[in-house]
Amino acid sequence: MSKTILVTGGAGFIGSAVVRHLINDTDHTVVNLDKLTYAGNLESLTSVSDSDRYSFEQVDICDAEEVKRVFNTHKPDIIMHLAAESHVDRSIDGPGEFIQTNVVGTYTLLEQARAYWSALEGDKKAGFKFHHISTDEVYGDLPHPDEVEPGTELPLFTETTPYAPSSPYSASKASSDQLVRSWLRTYKLPTLVTNCSNNYGPYHFPEKLIPLVILNALAGKPLPVYGKGNQIRDWLYVEDHARALVVVALNGEIGETYNIGGHNEKQNIEVVQTICSILDEVKPKDSKYADQITYVQDRPGHDMRYAIDASKIERELGWKPQETFESGIRKTVEWYLANEGWWKAVLDGSYQGERLGSGS
Ligand SMILES: NC(=O)c1ccc[n+]([C@@H]2O[C@H](COP(=O)([O-])OP(=O)(O)OC[C@H]3O[C@@H](n4cnc5c(N)ncnc54)[C@H](O)[C@@H]3O)[C@@H](O)[C@H]2O)c1
Repeated sequence: MSKTILVTGGAGFIGSAVVRHLINDTDHTVVNLDKLTYAGNLESLTSVSDSDRYSFEQVDICDAEEVKRVFNTHKPDIIMHLAAESHVDRSIDGPGEFIQTNVVGTYTLLEQARAYWSALEGDKKAGFKFHHISTDEVYGDLPHPDEVEPGTELPLFTETTPYAPSSPYSASKASSDQLVRSWLRTYKLPTLVTNCSNNYGPYHFPEKLIPLVILNALAGKPLPVYGKGNQIRDWLYVEDHARALVVVALNGEIGETYNIGGHNEKQNIEVVQTICSILDEVKPKDSKYADQITYVQDRPGHDMRYAIDASKIERELGWKPQETFESGIRKTVEWYLANEGWWKAVLDGSYQGERLGSGS
């Protein structure tokens, strides 16, 4: 049955992939609630914004009255909550905004969702779900292969790994996850939580590692690699994440947490070298793109390794990533080459590729 799904942060990187997937591949109606911070971009939604199943509300999740108005106007069946300040480096430079949006904003949304849900009746009330979208960064750091005896089996994050966030960003997300769980336990608000690994793909704001490297490489600029570049992340193509989120929102069990990951553990330096070799092939020039790699001072408090055990969502909900890292990263590089208009407009705005979060 067709549902009305309210997506917060639907103009962001992952939110826009969720909205495009819902409009293109399902018959659900989407309400995109987004404040349009520096990270929100309606240009990422031009392919679906004409649909009569799509509407947009420019609202701050911290504004209780406006959130209430949107709930009462659109009467959502499901909330998918992605709106957040999302960049670790920015959280080091200015943590206040992260506490405001990620903690106070999530609290405001939970309270308004509770008031709205309490007043629902019958099937509409019984079917209501609040899906909170979070990150694997809440679990902190895992042992790195460089730190253990060769052959040692390395642990993965599971749904029961204790929280140990390292940055203001991950601490604010951890707080919001705990608020969501407590609203379930205390008020019985029907919530679900997902924790996902690092995403990459089209429409990614150019301050994050992968788009920054692609665009700096094309511009002939240095390709900044933090520290030794041996930090490990578990990369997931954004459209695989969007599919997983919709599967959880529709079919996940209330009260459960699902970890989402791509089984693609890569050192940052490997990611940068892979991008360089794809560019050498698809957009060759006189020198190798890898010659532009420059090692810079590491991020303070940088976690060394994240890796997700995604077996629960695979087993219980039948989701699996469709892209390997190799296929996804090639698609991503090709997307940036074909969509200069999108990223040039972003680079003409508030961010021109400068270093963030050095802690100095
Ligand atoms: N990017 C990743 O690799 C990753 C991985 C796992 C989980 N997550 C989580 O997924 C969610 C989306 O991440 P993303 O990378 O798409 O982030 P993003 O920064 O690209 O987008 C965030 C969106 O939220 C909006 N927003 C910010 N503050 C708001 C507010 N106060 N009110 C309403 N809207 C507001 C922004 O305008 C933007 O459109 C976040 O909750 C993040 O913690 C991200």
